[in-house]
Amino acid sequence: MLKRRQFLQVSAVAAVGALYPISLLGQGRPRNPLRIPDLLDGERLDGIRQYALEAGQGRSRFLPGLETPTLGFNGSYLGPTLRLRNDEEVRIGVHNRLDETITVHWHGLHLPAIADGGPHQEITADGRWDARFRVNQNASTCWYHSHQIHKTGEQVYRGLAGMILLEDAQSRALELPDEYGVDDIPLIIQDRRFHSDGSLRYVENQRDIMMGHHGDTMLVNGTFDPVFVPVTRRVRFRVLNASNARNYRIAFSDGRRFHQLACDGGFLAEPLAVTDVTLAAGERCEIVAEFSDGAPVDLVSLPLPDDSPLRSRGMMGGMMGAIANQGFHLLAIEPQSQLTATPELPPVLASVPDPASFAVDRVRRFELDMRMGMMGGGRGRGRRGGMGGDRFSINGRSMDMGIINERVPLDSTEIWEIHNNSPMMHPFHIHHGQFRILDRDGRAPGPHERAFKDTVIVAGGETVRVVMRFENYADPVTPYMYHCHILEHEDNGMMGQFVVE
Ligand code: C2O
Ligand code: CU
Ligand code: CU
Repeated sequence: MLKRRQFLQVSAVAAVGALYPISLLGQGRPRNPLRIPDLLDGERLDGIRQYALEAGQGRSRFLPGLETPTLGFNGSYLGPTLRLRNDEEVRIGVHNRLDETITVHWHGLHLPAIADGGPHQEITADGRWDARFRVNQNASTCWYHSHQIHKTGEQVYRGLAGMILLEDAQSRALELPDEYGVDDIPLIIQDRRFHSDGSLRYVENQRDIMMGHHGDTMLVNGTFDPVFVPVTRRVRFRVLNASNARNYRIAFSDGRRFHQLACDGGFLAEPLAVTDVTLAAGERCEIVAEFSDGAPVDLVSLPLPDDSPLRSRGMMGGMMGAIANQGFHLLAIEPQSQLTATPELPPVLASVPDPASFAVDRVRRFELDMRMGMMGGGRGRGRRGGMGGDRFSINGRSMDMGIINERVPLDSTEIWEIHNNSPMMHPFHIHHGQFRILDRDGRAPGPHERAFKDTVIVAGGETVRVVMRFENYADPVTPYMYHCHILEHEDNGMMGQFVVE
C-alpha cells in the first residue's frame, strides 16, 4: 500500500511539474499586467436597470506565444463584472451565440427560482434568456457562471464565469476603497492545464473526476503570471475562487497581516486581522491590504498544512497530496512610488445577526457520498460514457432533473445538517439565499466565516449545520439547487433540487 501511495505521489509531481515548473514562476519576466474585467453598470430604462451579456467563442492569449480557444461573455474569456444595487429592478438579457446549450446562474443571489439560471433555465444555441428580478440583499461579492447539467465544469473551465458586485446604502456609506479597478480590485482565481499547442486540457481520467479537475497553471482574471501596480496605500481585493475544484490559502509572500472584510454573502461584523484566508471552490472573500511601505510582494497560495481539514484522508489523501495541497504564486504586486492616502478601515462594518437567535422550524439532513458504482439504485440516465460511471450522491441519490428532492415551506427557517461521509472535503452550496454556519461537529465556526455565506466547506467526515431562512419567492414547480461546488462532483451527481412553496 505504502509503495503504491508513494508511486502515486511521485507520478503526480512529475505530471504537475511538466509544463510550468512552479520555481520558474515568481521570477520570470516580463510579467503581464493584471487584466481587470470591464465593469457593467447597466442602463436605466423605464425604471429597470438593463444589462446585456453575450456568450461567445474567443481565442485568448494566456501563455507566451500561444493562443487558447476559450469561451466568454462580451469578450474572449470570462465576462464583465456586473454592478447591482440593492432594491433596483434589473433585467439581464443573455444571448447565447455558442453552438451548445448553456445556462447563466447568479451564484449567491436571492431571487425567484425562474430567474436563478440553474439547469432548468436552459439557453439553447443562439437562444436568448432574460433574468428579471429585484435586487434584494446586502452588499457582497457574488458571481455568475454556467450551470448546464453535466456540462458546468467544462463550460466554466473554458471561461463562462464573471463577478457580481452588490452595493447597498450601508456599503456606500462606509469609507472603504471602492473605486473599481483602482483600489477595489477583482481577483478571479483559476487553475488550468494546457496542451503544448495552448489549448485547454479538461478531465482526462477518472482521477480528475474523483478529486475534481486540478490545473498546474494559475490564471488571475484570465491573466497568466500577472502583475498589479497599486496606486493607493490600501487596496481592497475581492477574491473569487472560480476554480473547478482547487482550494487556496491566500496570503502574502512576506507573511504580512491584512484584513478580511467579508465572506460570500456580505460583511463580517468588523474587519478581521489575518495572515491567510482559505477559499474553496465557489467561495469569495473581500480583503484589504496595506502597501504603504512601497515594497513589492507576491500574493500566493500557501501549501495546505499537514493537519488541514481540507486535506483528504487515507488512500485518497495519497492520491491528492502532491496535486491538491501544493502552494502557488498568484500575483506579483509592485506598488507605484507615490501612493495616494486612503482612510483607515472603519471599526464596524455591519450588524450580523447571531445564528443561534433564528427561530428554527425544521432540521433536514444531507449525506454526501462518493462511493463508486453503487449510486442511484442503478437508475443510470445515460451519462456520457467512457469514464467508468462514477456517481456521487446526496442522501443516496444522484442528481435527477425530474425529481424534486426536498420541498421547503415558504417563510420558514431551517437547519440543514450536512454530513460528509467521504474522505475528502466538499464545498456545499445552496441556492435561494444566504445562510449562517451554526457549528462544525458541534464547535463554533471560525471568525472568518461568521457572516452570511452560500458555500461552506465540509471536511471529510465532518458534520456542518447551517441555518437559513426561506422567504420571498415561492414556486412549487421550479427548483433551486444544492450541490458540491467541486464542479466535477456536481456534474457527476452530487447535486439535488428543492422547491420553496
Ligand atoms: Cu455556483 Cu449552483 O452554483
Ligand atoms: Cu449558486
Ligand atoms: Cu465534492
